[in-house]
Amino acid sequence: MKRIAIIPGDGIGVEVTREAVRVLEKVRNHFGVTLELVHFDWGAEKYLRENVTLPEGALEMFQRDFDAIFTGAFGDPRIQSNKHAIDILGGLRFGLDLYINLRPVRLLHNRFTPLKHGHRQNINFVVFRENTEGIYVNVGGNLKRGADQEVAIQEEINTRQGVERIIRAAFTYASKHGRKRVTLADKSNVLTYGHELWRRVFKIVAAEYPEIEACAQYIDAMAMLMVLDPGQYEVIVTNNMFGDILTDLGAALQGGLGVAASANLHPGRVSLFEPVHGSAPDKAGRGIANPIGAIASTAMMLDYLGYQDIARRVDIAIEAVCEAGEVTVDLGGKLSTEEAGAAICHRLTLG
Ligand code: NAI
Ligand code: MG
Repeated sequence: MKRIAIIPGDGIGVEVTREAVRVLEKVRNHFGVTLELVHFDWGAEKYLRENVTLPEGALEMFQRDFDAIFTGAFGDPRIQSNKHAIDILGGLRFGLDLYINLRPVRLLHNRFTPLKHGHRQNINFVVFRENTEGIYVNVGGNLKRGADQEVAIQEEINTRQGVERIIRAAFTYASKHGRKRVTLADKSNVLTYGHELWRRVFKIVAAEYPEIEACAQYIDAMAMLMVLDPGQYEVIVTNNMFGDILTDLGAALQGGLGVAASANLHPGRVSLFEPVHGSAPDKAGRGIANPIGAIASTAMMLDYLGYQDIARRVDIAIEAVCEAGEVTVDLGGKLSTEEAGAAICHRLTLG
């Protein structure tokens, strides 16, 4: 039995989570997997109503009582500070020490990519983004705020342990999944302390995996090569900020934010799964959001929980609806969010 926390959040997060839950319920009923889904109403509404973001004791509860967490998206135009999103999502990522942000970039159908030379064989890689350090740790400050002489400092934190564990995770994944090449993205030519550490540790860890080719690139070159020659990438490992930016580029290559899935992992511990996209206020409430990113994230969750075969079936069902054009408007289809989710569920029980 696995216990899963469901936190739909805001905007289209709620709409796509409904479809992800539909898939999980299908998995439960059709494949006899015992999943207990527990819903939490944390998000903008609760924050505005009760001034509560991530409730007290939440981290301990998840660590004690849950196997996985699924979130939709957090963000609301009424909350300019984004406080609730930072508290909830940031709180979970940092508080549960979810140091791996795993983001697959896999083209589901040739017609979805904007690259004229892009096809399914050459857009298929995974990005390991460091998720607990870098420039996201909120270390810094302002001096003479508002004055002409203002100074703003934002520090990037790179620790030996933090760098090593994400690089090791990338190589372990490559080794386990038959991937032949791991590429590091950094800016060690300019960031001669922090990113030199990445290069040094990358070399040390790579030496433990002689069967895997280790390749290091500068981030700017990678941004270019990811468009010109995405087929060279199998596993990419990088820091928090570069991973954030690269995976939006990756999402564009695979057909847009609506299809991009992700996992926030600490192997062996309760981990968090979510679509890459945000709450999309421009599309919220219209029933047009693409549920594929959310549903593909549930496949990653099932895989993590030990149901690899069922995860694979969910992925195959997603591929089948893409092939058949049973998709939302952003992918050139005509279906609503709910119809697109139902189409995937239908394929899942056929397979
Ligand atoms: P966004 O990802 O919400 O939207 C970017 C663009 O992609 C929009 O045009 C949107 O309509 C489209 N889009 C996103 N998901 C889609 C889907 N499933 N189907 C079809 N189209 C989709 O990012 P944006 O606009 O920068 O941020 C909106 C809010 O979401 C902000 O409050 C932001 O802070 C928050 N956000 C939250 C994230 C999270 O909870 N993980 C991640 C990114 C943004
Ligand atoms: Mg981002």
